[in-house]
Amino acid sequence: MSMLFSPLQIGNFTLENRITVAPMCQYSAVEGSMTDWHMMHLGSMALSGASMLVIEATGVLPEGRITPQCTGLYSDANEEAMARVIKAVRNVSPIVLGIQLGHAGRKASAHRPWNGRGPLKTGEGAWMTQAPSAVSLAADWPVPHALSVQEMDRIKQACVAAVKRAARLGLDFVEMHSTHGYLFSEFLSLLANKRSDEYGGSLANRMRWPLEVFRAMREAWPADKFIGAKISGSDFAGGGWTPDDAVVYAGELRKAGAAYVTVSGGGVVLDAKVPTGPGYQVPFAERVKREAGITTGAVGLITDPQQAEDILTSGKADFISLARAMLFNPRWPQHAAVTLNADAKYPPQYERAAPKAWPPGKTLGKIAL
Ligand SMILES: Cc1cc2nc3c(=O)[nH]c(=O)nc-3n(C[C@H](O)[C@H](O)[C@H](O)COP(=O)(O)O)c2cc1C
Repeated sequence: MSMLFSPLQIGNFTLENRITVAPMCQYSAVEGSMTDWHMMHLGSMALSGASMLVIEATGVLPEGRITPQCTGLYSDANEEAMARVIKAVRNVSPIVLGIQLGHAGRKASAHRPWNGRGPLKTGEGAWMTQAPSAVSLAADWPVPHALSVQEMDRIKQACVAAVKRAARLGLDFVEMHSTHGYLFSEFLSLLANKRSDEYGGSLANRMRWPLEVFRAMREAWPADKFIGAKISGSDFAGGGWTPDDAVVYAGELRKAGAAYVTVSGGGVVLDAKVPTGPGYQVPFAERVKREAGITTGAVGLITDPQQAEDILTSGKADFISLARAMLFNPRWPQHAAVTLNADAKYPPQYERAAPKAWPPGKTLGKIAL
């Protein structure tokens, strides 16, 4: 019996397996609104046999988008465009579907990866970025505007408004983007938060605003649906966020009504030493799951079915979140089921692709039928 292909209860929802698709920016929106690309991309992910799909980091305000091509959920036009995509996905797949909401903070106003990732310049549509403190991401990045408490409140209200739009769109869950050096993780990290008010200094102070926002989002979200967060296990940089901090924060999120956290990391500073390798962030998930007692997802170079299975059976996480592996092979869950001798769901139109349905005595690549 494969654990990867066993069900998992999150809130009122039952995931039919423990393979989830991580949020992945597509940098293909127009003024924050989804396009045909999103329909094809999310449609492809939704047919993969994964049980849960997180829509990409979506800005709650125009200036909260990472790039001008990132999705937003701040206008009626954004909501209408997303409704079209969600309707199409719902029409072809029963996948549990949610959205990651966030604000890019001092990493906003950037070029998309295939245009070099760096900060936009004047004349390229650059806008003033915002952060807990007027400290730039790196020497060649602009100094952000340090948010006043009033401005923080406006962002909180924008998060609430986006959550209400997500509810109207009939999504199953929302995820707060609280990692990778974007606004909420900037507040959490001493490397970006140099404030001397009640939102800076001690861990309790640095967590105060992200938790206030999370509680407001939870309150605005239907009680029968779930809400989670993607958090950092580490900044991978001296003087920054640590696994100990992640355990405390995850515990507070649980108390605030989070049904799950996925534990990622990095991104607060550009000179972090990230020890990338297979499952490099799994030890953070393991600690959070054990010590914060919350349903926990592991993410980061999980690419192999047996590796995913072992993470679950050794109790290091409750579910697996896959990003690059799903882009490389959108049939990853169905292929993993073959490797682990389990059953994956296929859309009826694709059922004849399941090797079990093929005539015996043949091979396809390494798979004996
Ligand atoms: C194309 C791409 C876009 C991404 N966009 C997001 C995003 O919108 N939100 C997020 O939390 N992480 C994002 N990530 C990070 C992934 O969700 C994941 O945490 C990271 O890639 C490690 O997992 P992997 O090794 O399975 O790719 C993105 C990754 C990729 C490859």
